[in-house]
Amino acid sequence: MASIQDKIKELLELREKARKGGGEDRIEAQHRKGKLTARERLELLLDEGSFEEFDMFVSHRCIDFGLDKEHYLSDGVVTGYGTIDGRLVYVFSQDFTVFGGSLSEMYAAKICKIMDHAMKVGAPIIGINDSGGARIQEGVKSLGGYAEIFQRNILASGLVPQISAVFGPCAGGAVYSPALTDFIIMSKNTSYMFVTGPKVVKTVTGEDVTTEQLGGSKVHATKSGVAHFVADTEQEGLLLIRKLISYLPQNNLEDPPLAYCDDPIDRVDDKLNEIIPDNPNKPYDVKEVIHSVVDYNEILEVQRDYAPNIVTAFARFNGMSVGIVANQPNYLAGVLDIAASRKAARFVRFCDAFNIPIVTFVDVPGFLPGTGQEYGGIILHGAKLLYAYGEATVPKITIILRKAYGGAYDVMSSKHLRGDINYGWPTAEIAVMGPKGAIEILYSKEIEEIKDEHVKAVFIAEKEKEYRHKFANPYNAAKFGYIDDVIEPRNTRFRIIRALQALQTKKVVNPPKKHSNLPL
Ligand code: HXC
Repeated sequence: MASIQDKIKELLELREKARKGGGEDRIEAQHRKGKLTARERLELLLDEGSFEEFDMFVSHRCIDFGLDKEHYLSDGVVTGYGTIDGRLVYVFSQDFTVFGGSLSEMYAAKICKIMDHAMKVGAPIIGINDSGGARIQEGVKSLGGYAEIFQRNILASGLVPQISAVFGPCAGGAVYSPALTDFIIMSKNTSYMFVTGPKVVKTVTGEDVTTEQLGGSKVHATKSGVAHFVADTEQEGLLLIRKLISYLPQNNLEDPPLAYCDDPIDRVDDKLNEIIPDNPNKPYDVKEVIHSVVDYNEILEVQRDYAPNIVTAFARFNGMSVGIVANQPNYLAGVLDIAASRKAARFVRFCDAFNIPIVTFVDVPGFLPGTGQEYGGIILHGAKLLYAYGEATVPKITIILRKAYGGAYDVMSSKHLRGDINYGWPTAEIAVMGPKGAIEILYSKEIEEIKDEHVKAVFIAEKEKEYRHKFANPYNAAKFGYIDDVIEPRNTRFRIIRALQALQTKKVVNPPKKHSNLPL
């Protein structure tokens, strides 16, 4: 009979075998591609020594295509829980060295198990993807496994934060698990995501594209908006996840953690009193305003390179986590288009789901006109942002820096969409439209009748001046209580922190319903 020492030895040997995944050669091949292994990634992601692994001894049950003779402990995915800055998270990390990280029935069951645990205790789920997709030898069992994961992604949505790293292939239906999560981080040059690969694209559409052109990190960060972050290296990506987690609560019933802060709450910035150019058509960088007012000038921008006409970012005020949404006059004059509306709507809804107050900086000339936008459904996409703001019950603070024209004024967290505290800078212009457009409509007959071009120009300029004086200021809106105060730009940080403090106990509940019908 084997002694207890022998049994322990056996355990340690089995553990060692499991840690080797698909074996030394495949680990080396993984490293040669500039990629880390599934376990190395978890070591970097989690606090040192915090990882508790589940299901190390799981193996597949497939007997087809010779797989009855090929078994690897853990079966291609490492799962369990650990901590990030002492806070519990559940993790899975796909192991490309085992059958190319392909997903089997048992592999899916392992992922589902940690997802169920995470939902039960209310902790974030972080998945690291690096996989050749469905394990071909397992057939329909693999497809079923994917759907089991999707179902849990759906149930966990809005309950616990879900974060996906894509550090390798992620193709076919496999893309839909990350797509159902809250954030996707892709690694530069080593990751790709697409529904169908270049070969199928060539057959079906005749297009010649490379993997990178079809679904690389750059494409998803700039064109599709699928990726929220791109990391130069996997190490950077894993640190980024740790940082992202620091802004988030554990679940929908908790508040985000309060960070230590010794950045003075009454820090004023005189530069802000001069940041808005005299010429209303001149741009400036709204990120300068954001950096200036938040704790330690530090933000974590989400979808930085997608729809840069709107900025979405996490930041802190006196240690309190907030989501920031800001029109960016530096890009397309900060106009709201389809991409910007979708980007901001999703961010607002995430913040609202996880009790993160929203601070909105407004400088928006309106919605982008044109057939491109109309045919693309700007009506529906713009409505998404409107809906998101109107539905949100977290504290909402709005600062109108300059233009707040037309429907875009309403949309951008206005008082009428239950904005809690709305301020305007003295440079705010709150009106139905900009002076130029307004004058062209109001005085179209008079303008047409003036034949002399010089006289016409003088007439238009005068009327524009009159309009600007009358409407392009914050006081008309302030007169009706649509903004609560006109504030000096240099004091913005202090005023926002005061507002956040006053709103800490805010309680607003939407009418009960099965679910809403967001204009998708
Ligand atoms: C089983 C797989 C596999 C898979 C890769 N492998 N993909 N085994 N099922 N889906 C194995 C390979 O046989 C190989 O085994 C090892 O993993 C590494 O693969 P390589 O091809 O050598 O690696 P690389 O050259 O880096 O190419 C990676 C790859 C390629 C691009 C992912 O392997 C590939 O195209 N795989 C097939 C992808 C695919 O069509 N998947 C099914 C998609 S359909 P050895 O023993 O040599 O190390 C799908 C549906 C999901 O996923 C639906 C959800 C609803």
